[in-house]
Amino acid sequence: MHSEKQLPCWEEKIKKELAHLEEISQKRELVSTGCAEQPWLTINGCRMLNLASNNYLGYAGDERLKKAMVDAVHTYGAGATASRLIVGNHPLYEQAEQALVNWKKAEAGLIINSGYNANLGIISTLLSRNDIIYSDKLNHASIVDGALLSRAKHIRYRHNDLAHLEAFLKKSPIEARKLIVTDTVFSMDGDFAFLEDLVRLKERYNALLMTDEAHGSGIYGENGEGYASHLHLQNKIDIQMGTFSKALGSFGAYVVGKNGSSTI
Ligand SMILES: Cc1ncc(COP(=O)(O)O)c(C=O)c1O
Repeated sequence: MHSEKQLPCWEEKIKKELAHLEEISQKRELVSTGCAEQPWLTINGCRMLNLASNNYLGYAGDERLKKAMVDAVHTYGAGATASRLIVGNHPLYEQAEQALVNWKKAEAGLIINSGYNANLGIISTLLSRNDIIYSDKLNHASIVDGALLSRAKHIRYRHNDLAHLEAFLKKSPIEARKLIVTDTVFSMDGDFAFLEDLVRLKERYNALLMTDEAHGSGIYGENGEGYASHLHLQNKIDIQMGTFSKALGSFGAYVVGKNGSSTI
């Protein structure tokens, strides 16, 4: 065992950072729950109603979903053995993606293993060094990470402040590839993006518009397609992603858009 003094400096540094986080009440710890039988949790021996989850419709405990999952494991096994690009596209993906495209009334769609990976993958695939991303300051962290990974210029406009966004758009070169990206329903405050105005701006400044429907999927729209469909704007948005991990009670994510993305 090293004494405190002999510790390599990086370890000291990490300890200091943790102590600082503790001091400013930002050190996060996992809380153990004795039981997680939906919608109840047991914390410190106390049975509590779980109002902190994203399981908005209670589907995580739905008997039909549970049975379908168990049946699928019995039929297909516990894993896919490798990625789709390596072992081929299982027909179940084609069925699920066709159902996704029909549900979202889109031209093309792809299922991805988590919302985090979806935002990372979509943004870093579509944008690169010479492009510009305009992102609402309260967008989910996965959008921020996707923007950083893309190496595009990353501009964060004030939350729902479209005058701030427009001021940035006005200054950017007309020929640059631009992406405006926003949560539709913001994850922390539950407020909405002004999608009609964002569509107007994207058209005026020749930008692409991407929406994150993590918290709109399953909740808004006639068939739970999301907040953009609720406003009848789904055809005006270039890229829509959403997750299966909130109201849909499971995990994974999707992206839908145009076939061949003629706008890009
Ligand atoms: C707005 C938003 N986008 C993306 C994600 C990431 O989704 P996932 O948990 O499926 O990785 C979340 C998760 O909290 C979210 O709130």
